[in-house]
Amino acid sequence: MAKEKKDKLTRIAVLVSGGGTNLQALIDAQKAGIIKSGRIVLVVSNNPNAYALERAAGAGIPSAIVTRKECGGSREAFEEKLTASLEEAGIEMIVLAGFMSILSERFISRYRDRIINVHPSLIPSFCGEGFYGLRVHEAALGYGVKVTGATVHFVNEIPDGGRIILQKAVAIRKGDTPEVLQRRVMEQAEWKILPRACEMVAASLKKQKR
Ligand code: GAR
Repeated sequence: MAKEKKDKLTRIAVLVSGGGTNLQALIDAQKAGIIKSGRIVLVVSNNPNAYALERAAGAGIPSAIVTRKECGGSREAFEEKLTASLEEAGIEMIVLAGFMSILSERFISRYRDRIINVHPSLIPSFCGEGFYGLRVHEAALGYGVKVTGATVHFVNEIPDGGRIILQKAVAIRKGDTPEVLQRRVMEQAEWKILPRACEMVAASLKKQKR
């Protein structure tokens, strides 16, 4: 840790599984100076085909692929490999940006108050195990809520149960499909609050280093 401690900015890893539009929002926010207390130094994907990997390459950010499959399906072995690549890069903060795998208590306690996640609903609605991606919007439309949104929260051992950092509401419109709603929630909420929350946490971790 000695080397990283000297690094003034919080060293951030972004964990992804898919398209990576939230990763893109973080990259853009870093370029725009919205994220100024931390630096994205690593992107890790658990899906070798994730388009997010191309976004990382486009921004010149090193990336790693760690899959559960290559670890014989074992979560323990997967997390060991993941931890090794995070440690090698001196990671101090982790952003889950569309990362579709639940992390163990062991992993989370190692990075206590240093992992944040973006979820596409207003927690505590439509969250927890089984609620991810499009399913969240299907559930919101199925229930008939008139307002949904996104939440950025710290990650603890309860899926989507950690302390809330930021939330933003988004109106549901007549005729919305899950796809249309997903896009609106991303544009109006996720891509705005994730970079802001990332900066808030990176700034507080940076202060702790002094
Ligand atoms: C985003 O909507 C994110 O909130 C959601 O998956 C999508 C990933 O999109 N995450 C979850 O549902 C986690 N429970 P992206 O890869 O384009 O950022």
